Amino acid sequence: MEKTIIMRKIKIGLIGYGTVGSGVVKFLQKRHEYIRAKYGVEFVLRTLCDRSIHKKDTRGLGKARLTTKIADVLDDKNIEVAIELIGGLHPAQEIVTTALSRGKHVITANKLLIANQGKELFRLAKRQNRQLYFEASVGAGVPIIKTITEGIVGNTYNRIYGIINGTCNFILTEMTKNNLSFSKALKLAQEKGFAESNPTLDINGMDSAHKLAILAYLAFGKFVKVSDIYTEGITQISHDDIAYAESLNLTIKLLAIAKRHENVVEARVHPTLISKEHPLASISGIYNAFYLNANPLGDILLSGEGAGQMAAASGVVSDLLNLASHGEDTHLLCNLYSEAPNFRIRKIDQVKTRFYIRFMATDKPGVLSTITGVLGRYRIGINSVTQRAHKAAWAVPVIMLTNYTMEKNLRLALEKIQKFSIVKSKPVAIRMENLW
Ligand code: HSE
Repeated sequence: MEKTIIMRKIKIGLIGYGTVGSGVVKFLQKRHEYIRAKYGVEFVLRTLCDRSIHKKDTRGLGKARLTTKIADVLDDKNIEVAIELIGGLHPAQEIVTTALSRGKHVITANKLLIANQGKELFRLAKRQNRQLYFEASVGAGVPIIKTITEGIVGNTYNRIYGIINGTCNFILTEMTKNNLSFSKALKLAQEKGFAESNPTLDINGMDSAHKLAILAYLAFGKFVKVSDIYTEGITQISHDDIAYAESLNLTIKLLAIAKRHENVVEARVHPTLISKEHPLASISGIYNAFYLNANPLGDILLSGEGAGQMAAASGVVSDLLNLASHGEDTHLLCNLYSEAPNFRIRKIDQVKTRFYIRFMATDKPGVLSTITGVLGRYRIGINSVTQRAHKAAWAVPVIMLTNYTMEKNLRLALEKIQKFSIVKSKPVAIRMENLW
C-alpha cells in the first residue's frame, strides 16, 4: 500500500523584503508543489513585514498580510517561524529575542547578529526549546553551518581557511582576469546584488570577520570576539601587486583564517598570497570556499555561490525544511550554548607568517643593502628579491619574499625603512600562507 504523506502547514512571518527576502518568497513560490510533494510540508506566508512594503512589488503574494509593523509578526500566535532578514544589529536583535521568547522558531541570515550575540541567542533558544537557524549567514547557500554542526561531528578542527566574502572575491577576480578597476568591479558587485547595503563592510573585511567569528565558534567551540579578529580589507590591493604575484605563481585572495594550536586560537582576515596550485586559488567570482582541516577526517573543501539573491534564499529555505523535519526535537544546534573552556586568543603581533613586501625605492647602489640591513636587525630572513621595471621614473619596485617572521618584527622594521628618503612610498606588505 502506498504511504500517504501527511501534509503539514507551517505559518511563517517574514521580516525584511529586500534582496534576500524577496528571493525567499520567489523560491517558495517556485518550489511550492515540489516541496509539498517531496516533503509533505507547506509553508504559508502569513505576514510579510517591511518598512517600505508599499513601495515593493508584492504581486502574487495571495493572502499574506502586508505590514510595516514588526509587532504584526511577533504578536501573532499563529506564526510558528519568524524569519529575520533585515540585517544589522538593531532592531534585529530585539526581533530575534522577542520571537524566541514568545515561542517562535527563528531563521536569520544575519551574520553581524550571530557573530556578536550568538552566545546569548543560542542559550535563549535552548531555554525556550525553540530552533534558531542561520545557514545563510555564512556562505549563503553553501551549507557550511550544517557541515560543521551536523555533517562532520565528532571531529575536532585545527584550521579553517575561507574565502567568505563573495563581493571581495568577485572584485579581486575582475581585477585579475579582466583588468577592471577596483571601483568598477565594486559597482558591478553592487548592481548584481552581492554587496551589503553598506559595501564598506565587504571591502574592509568586516563582513568576513563576522562570518569567521561564527565559524570559529562552531569549529572550536569558542566564541571569538569580532574585535579579537585582526581584520584588513582589500582596498590597498593594486593591479601592480596582482601582476607581480601572478609572475611569482601566486594569487591574492581575501582569506579568513582561524587556527587552533592546543589551547590557543588565532583568527584573522586579510589579503593573502597563496600558491596558484592550491584549490583555493581557483575559487573565483562570487564563489565562497571553505577549506577545513578536521581530525581525524583530514582536509575538506566546500565551495559554491556565496552571495546573491537565490544563493542566500536557498540557505534560508534549507533552514525552513530542516526546521520542519526536526520539529520540536532537541537538535544538535541546541548544544551551541556551551563553550569550550580555557582558550586564549593569539594577538596578531605574535603571529608568524611569510610576507611579500613591495618597496618603491630610488634606483641607485646601496638601496638594497640599506633595506636588508634593517630587516636583518629585526631577524627577518629574505627568501628572494626582485627589482622590476616600472612606468614611474621616480622609483622602482623592489619585491622581497621573506621567511617566516613575527608580525611585530615586520611592523617595526617597515616603520623604520619607511623613514629613509630612498623609500618613496609606504611599503606594501601582503601575508603569504602555505595552505597545505
Ligand atoms: N555581501 C556578502 C558577500 C553577501 O559579498 O559575501 C553574502 O553574505
